[in-house]
Amino acid sequence: MKKEELVRKGYNEIGQKYMDYRSIFSNLKELKYILTLLPENGKILDVGCGTGVPIARYFVDKGFSVTGIDISETMIELAEQNVSEAKFYRYDMNDLDFPELSFDCITAIYSLFHAPKEKHFSILENFYRMLKPKGILFFCIGTDSGDYYGDDFLGSEMFWSNYPPEKTLSLVKEADFNILFEEILDRGEELHYWIIAQK
Ligand SMILES: C[S@@+](CC[C@H](N)C(=O)[O-])C[C@H]1O[C@@H](n2cnc3c(N)ncnc32)[C@H](O)[C@@H]1O
Repeated sequence: MKKEELVRKGYNEIGQKYMDYRSIFSNLKELKYILTLLPENGKILDVGCGTGVPIARYFVDKGFSVTGIDISETMIELAEQNVSEAKFYRYDMNDLDFPELSFDCITAIYSLFHAPKEKHFSILENFYRMLKPKGILFFCIGTDSGDYYGDDFLGSEMFWSNYPPEKTLSLVKEADFNILFEEILDRGEELHYWIIAQK
């Protein structure tokens, strides 16, 4: 089975369980910082939006126009229920074809690591294309390097894939972003590598 299909099937099974689990991870500090970098009422693309909470919900409440995409039908349905003010589409992040210069900010929170690492650079390049000048990219990724399969992520099969942080950082720079912030952070008692970058 294609890895993206395994991930889609997993999240379709997990649905609400993921939403309960997600509530232990707060990203408020980073979100508040991002706000200071964005124009009022700007346009956000949330990649791998999950249930829409907390990321899409946060930006909608702050007056932004939010588009969310996710590979899982179940996650899209939950996001539509949770954040009815945003637009959600079932797309694979590998195939996004929004016009260039569409968004002020692209977020990919706990999602890029579900795509095989060999595809991360082309995904980052595509994010760059879709961002407006000075647009902000905000994402996180795992801290270990390699491909991992789990057969019990909240009861479902799952796949993750990461380069080591220094390689991810070099890919972001190679895609022509300027780095504003990069650090391994502990959120919800899990370590991830966080990057905020600007076009
Ligand atoms: C760990 S959840 C994170 C959800 C949300 N960003 C959050 O912060 O709660 C990962 C999400 O990425 C989505 N996803 C995984 N691979 C994807 C892909 N190739 N394209 C689009 N979405 C994907 C999953 O369906 C899932 O909803």
